[in-house]
Amino acid sequence: MRRYGENFFWFGDVPALAVITCRKPPAFLQMAMGDKAALLWGGELSAAMAAFALLLAAQTLDLGACCLTGPLSVWREMETRLDIPKHDTLVLLAALGHKKDA
Ligand SMILES: Cc1cc2nc3c(=O)[nH]c(=O)nc-3n(C[C@H](O)[C@H](O)[C@H](O)COP(=O)(O)O)c2cc1C
Repeated sequence: MRRYGENFFWFGDVPALAVITCRKPPAFLQMAMGDKAALLWGGELSAAMAAFALLLAAQTLDLGACCLTGPLSVWREMETRLDIPKHDTLVLLAALGHKKDA
C-alpha cells in the first residue's frame, strides 16, 4: 500500500497543474435522489470530459499530461489547500509539462 501510495504525491514539482473541479449537485437534487444525485447532475462526468479535452489539447501541443486522482485520498486537505469553494468538489488534477525527450 505504501508503494502504491507513492503514485499519489509525486506532482509537487510539475511545471503546471490543472485543478479540475465541478459544482456539487444542488440540495433539492440530493434530497430527491440521494447517492444518485451526483450521477444525475453530471458534474463529475463533465469534469472528466473537460479533462479529456485538456489531455488531447496537451498532446496536440506536444506536451506531456497525466491525470491524477491519487491526491483525492486526502481530498479534504487538498480542497482546503487549493481553496476550492464549498459548493464545488475536486475531481482530479492534471500534471502538464514538456516531455523529457522533447
Ligand atoms: C482517472 C485516472 C487517474 C489517475 N491517477 C493517477 C495518480 O494519482 N498517480 C499516478 O501516478 N498515475 C495516475 N494515473 C495514471 C496516469 O495518468 C497515466 O495514465 C499513466 O501514467 C499512463 O500514462 P501513459 O498512458 O502516458 O503511459 C491515473 C490515470 C487515470 C485515467
